[in-house]
Amino acid sequence: MTELADRWGLDPVFFWMRDDWRPDAPVEIDDNGVVHVYGHAECAEVYSDPKSYSSNVEALLFGDAGHGEALTEGALSAADPPKHTKMRKIVSRAFTPRMAAGLAPQITKVTHELLDAAADKEGLELVGDLAYPMPVIVIADLLGIPRSDHTLFKQWVDQIVVAEGEVSIESVDVHREDANVAAAVGQVPELIEYLRGHVAERRRRPQDDLLTKLVEAEIDGERLSEAAVVIFARELLVAGHLTTSATVGNLVLCLDAFPEQMARMRANPDLAPGMIEETLRFLTPLAGAARASVADVELAGVKVPEGRLVRLWLGAANRDERQFTNPHVFDPDRDPNPHLGFGRGIHFCIGAPLARLESRIGVNILLNRYPQLRTDPDNPVEFRPSEDVLGVTKLPLLTS
Ligand code: HEM
Repeated sequence: MTELADRWGLDPVFFWMRDDWRPDAPVEIDDNGVVHVYGHAECAEVYSDPKSYSSNVEALLFGDAGHGEALTEGALSAADPPKHTKMRKIVSRAFTPRMAAGLAPQITKVTHELLDAAADKEGLELVGDLAYPMPVIVIADLLGIPRSDHTLFKQWVDQIVVAEGEVSIESVDVHREDANVAAAVGQVPELIEYLRGHVAERRRRPQDDLLTKLVEAEIDGERLSEAAVVIFARELLVAGHLTTSATVGNLVLCLDAFPEQMARMRANPDLAPGMIEETLRFLTPLAGAARASVADVELAGVKVPEGRLVRLWLGAANRDERQFTNPHVFDPDRDPNPHLGFGRGIHFCIGAPLARLESRIGVNILLNRYPQLRTDPDNPVEFRPSEDVLGVTKLPLLTS
């Protein structure tokens, strides 16, 4: 069989996708001093030690250079304990797994609406027709953004997405104010202004939505400030959108590449959870994460000095043969499947229950509505130009 990486025309930046790829060592330091972590145990070790590995990568990259206000200031994903512990507790009161489970009817409705809108077309383009818009609509509905503003909202999200594709952590110029870098972390001024208005409104007139719950959530009498609610809402969009659409696309790609698994899933939709977990391992959507070392530490025998950028190659870790038997085989029956697709430890993805639900419902409805669904050999799949997110930007499918 040709390598899937070749068949899909994958960029070599996804080096870990190749069957013959093995790291020389689980941890390496390159000529620029960047620490690359490829091993599963080693990524897990970094995740379990926030005292030595900070999530505030921006402080390391930018220091005092360039930006007046830190771009990720106040973001949950960039916070370290004890601040992170407190914030995570408060937002967990509002953004609960139960709340995600309650969204099943809404996700079903949105999926059908989007597929209905594409019904007259010949074939489907999975990303534009379903995988891209669905998670944005779900998050917008969840926050309580009125449907009449969705077009506006989508424009801002598009700006973030385009910018994300053009920015990579290692290429950031710390001495230059860069609108793309700002947009990539959700700093679109119009979006922030818009969210601010909604948050202030929820304080005055509570509604039955996540923004209100975030405004009202408290731990030990302490609430999130209005600014913090705006930042978290923006973060949900940035963290929960592309990753989820990538997962929906990657799951369909895996099912298409392994027709026997497609047949099993069609026969038994309850197999979806195993298929999703294996997709998160096999085609890891958030393939590269980052930390900053804030102490001199040793990792797998390598001395990691303080003040280094540490790249966690989650896609590679998910194919570490010390952890997974036959890592280059797509096996949805792996049990357990301790992949790092949602990270690990204190920053473990807070949106995982929602992402799993959206992927399960979205793909099951898709298979149900299209019994002949398959990729189009004349119209190839395209991927995001990014080494950190492995996800399709265009996935044309034949439906008959
Ligand atoms: C399949 C889709 C998704 C994938 C693969 C994914 C992946 C991840 C990963 C790997 C992390 C940890 C990053 C790190 O610590 O280095 C993370 C954190 C996070 N994710 Fe997700 N995510 C997905 C969906 C979502 C959704 C739907 C939401 C919300 C609507 C979301 C919100 C977040 C937030 C807020 C964090 C930061 C949590 C913290 O720092 O405590 N994610 N995600």
